[in-house]
Amino acid sequence: MTDTRENDPNKFNDTPNIDAPAIDMPITDPVPEPFAVKFASRVERLPPYMFGRINNLLYQKRRAGDDVIDMGMGNPSDPPEQVVIDKLMTAATDPTNHGYSKSNGIANLRREVTKKYERKYGVTLDPEHEVISCLGSKEGFSHMCLALMGPGDTAMIPSPYFPVHMYGVILASGNVVSLDVADPDLFLRNVAYTCEHMAPRPKILIVNYPHNPSSAVIEPDFFVEVVRLAKRYGFLVIHDFAYADVAFDGYKPPSFLSAKGAKDVGVEFTTMSKGYNMAGWRVGFCAGNADMIRGLGTIKGYYDYGMFQAIQIAAIVALRDTEEAVEKQSLIYQGRRDALVSGLRRLGWTVNPPKAGMFVWAEIPEPWKSAMSTMDFAMKLLEEGNVAVSPGSGFGQGGEGFLRMSLVENEQRLRQAVRQISKCLSSPPAIVKA
Ligand SMILES: Cc1ncc(COP(=O)(O)O)c(C=O)c1O
Repeated sequence: MTDTRENDPNKFNDTPNIDAPAIDMPITDPVPEPFAVKFASRVERLPPYMFGRINNLLYQKRRAGDDVIDMGMGNPSDPPEQVVIDKLMTAATDPTNHGYSKSNGIANLRREVTKKYERKYGVTLDPEHEVISCLGSKEGFSHMCLALMGPGDTAMIPSPYFPVHMYGVILASGNVVSLDVADPDLFLRNVAYTCEHMAPRPKILIVNYPHNPSSAVIEPDFFVEVVRLAKRYGFLVIHDFAYADVAFDGYKPPSFLSAKGAKDVGVEFTTMSKGYNMAGWRVGFCAGNADMIRGLGTIKGYYDYGMFQAIQIAAIVALRDTEEAVEKQSLIYQGRRDALVSGLRRLGWTVNPPKAGMFVWAEIPEPWKSAMSTMDFAMKLLEEGNVAVSPGSGFGQGGEGFLRMSLVENEQRLRQAVRQISKCLSSPPAIVKA
């Protein structure tokens, strides 16, 4: 290549003059900014954890040796059936069970899920395309949100809400419209109204019956109407059926999938955490619409390698052989419900006994309700009464004025909790809340 500036007298004039004063040179090294981790905006959008104050105090009290009666989390305290534990142990000694498993779950486990659906709800499912295993239903639910939602998409959710119903959508960059869950007919009317008036229309309806935290329940007709509305307005349905196996007084929680046409529009999540006492095992399922299941499978294929195979094998035994124990466990919760509800009623509280689920949803009595926030009331019960409960406000504004009391302690301790609550509330407050 020829140098076109060969005879140019200014050819070297753009060479820096090293003798010139270094006007812009810093005299000392700059003070480094303190090192900080900046989270993604999706994390910045999350509110402070509402149960943090309660959990911190609970932890401190336990460390100090206080005997706190814990009605906070819905974390079952009874063990799974011995045959299930035995199967886990033998499966764990088999060297072939320790590699990566299939992210959508082994075929025999998915087949066992379809058998339970057939037996319990008369629902026929294809185990290959219409069922997927999850690392607990919460994992499956959040990844389903990631598969379906994005910026500009809206989900209708119940109010008050189980936190992942709100934040699974938010983490997937979606928006949320929350609808009062207490009256099922009103809830459905609000779904129709929202679809009529919102543009673009909501993409998803999230439902959860028996409901956490409010314990609201529905009858099968509810899901017939949900399917009709879904087809009319073109939204998808996710039913969180976590409390499918915990019901009282002969009430049978209906499966969304037993409504005609449900598989055309949605899916249902179930779990072994509650009825089977296997919360720490992390076994859940999603069943229904094959396209939605495929979408969840795609996300899961990138994020996880499935559940430890020994757990899956033991879960098959639990589903196949321990149905009776699941029914007995419901009776245990029913006895605890009766002990707690009758105790609270004796204190003058207005409480409806739940027909299903693991919680009593109790309105805070006056004058306390008008005198302080739900959070402060829950903190008072813990601080002065050694009783931990979940303040309803932890489940959104719709839960203000209520407490969620879980039924994981035994009857005797629940009665003791009522006595401690009574003592703690013996001097009513002057009403001061703004
Ligand atoms: C309504 C609801 N959905 C899902 C879950 C999570 O269940 P899993 O243990 O299967 O993730 C819970 C647990 O408390 C729940 O209450």
